[in-house]
Amino acid sequence: MIVVSSGAIHLRDELMALGGKIGEVEIKKFPDGEKYVRVIGSAEEVMVVGSTFYPQDERIVELLLIGDALRERGAEGLQVVIPYFGYSRQDRVTKEGEPVSVRAIMRSLGLYYDELYVFDLHNPETLKFFPGKAVNVSPARAIAEYFQGKLGEGLVLAPDRGARGRARAVADMLGLEYSHFEKRRVSPTEVKMKPVDVDVEGRNVLIVDDIISTGGTMVKAANLLREMGAEKVFVAATHGVFAEGAIERVSKAVDELAVTNTIPTPVSRISIVRDIVNL
Ligand code: R5P
Repeated sequence: MIVVSSGAIHLRDELMALGGKIGEVEIKKFPDGEKYVRVIGSAEEVMVVGSTFYPQDERIVELLLIGDALRERGAEGLQVVIPYFGYSRQDRVTKEGEPVSVRAIMRSLGLYYDELYVFDLHNPETLKFFPGKAVNVSPARAIAEYFQGKLGEGLVLAPDRGARGRARAVADMLGLEYSHFEKRRVSPTEVKMKPVDVDVEGRNVLIVDDIISTGGTMVKAANLLREMGAEKVFVAATHGVFAEGAIERVSKAVDELAVTNTIPTPVSRISIVRDIVNL
């Protein structure tokens, strides 16, 4: 039984189409802003699905309330699938007095849920903060399937070394070459980017990252590839956490921009729903 929280309403039809049995749940807001949740369907073998994009705090509280309601009804072995995990970038203390925010959220979820599934978590090491079984699900299958046949003899690039594993997974599925951009500081104010050990001239390139926020990273990488004579430039990311104007900025700089539907956006063209149903 799949319980769809408000952070996954955009996935509901596809979850049903792929055979997921949807449990009934009532979710509303009181006039003072507090959330009200009531689980009506069965509380057996439940998987709760919900991304925690903006308004993050509200969606997190909702997941806690659904977990509490399910426990109240005697549910055991509860699974929660959080396609986009809000607060995932707040994963360390940078100034004295700060929390490790992602840890606080994972521990709270652990009060109710036994298993946690997250798609392409910003820092997979932070899964250790969840007390139960915690899995980082790769978006590679979905991204590779979407770009199948679009790249010809092209290649897949990661915008930095840390994103290389994701680019490799997508490239392997497409049977293509992969590499990453290296950043080199050339002056106190200037950082130069360059793809490592690959020739991009006349080739189609797909750049893959976990998150697009302002779009600055992707625009810079795409412009550089154009200067180096790349043919078509495609950009993909798991999570479209787009700041205002970012979709337009990136779209203008590339031939196609597509992100997965962990967050609903106008360019969420790649679906991870099959990966949820198959968990
Ligand atoms: C950074 O660690 C992430 O992997 C992304 O590269 C970053 O969030 C992208 O941000 P922006 O779109 O603002 O350049």
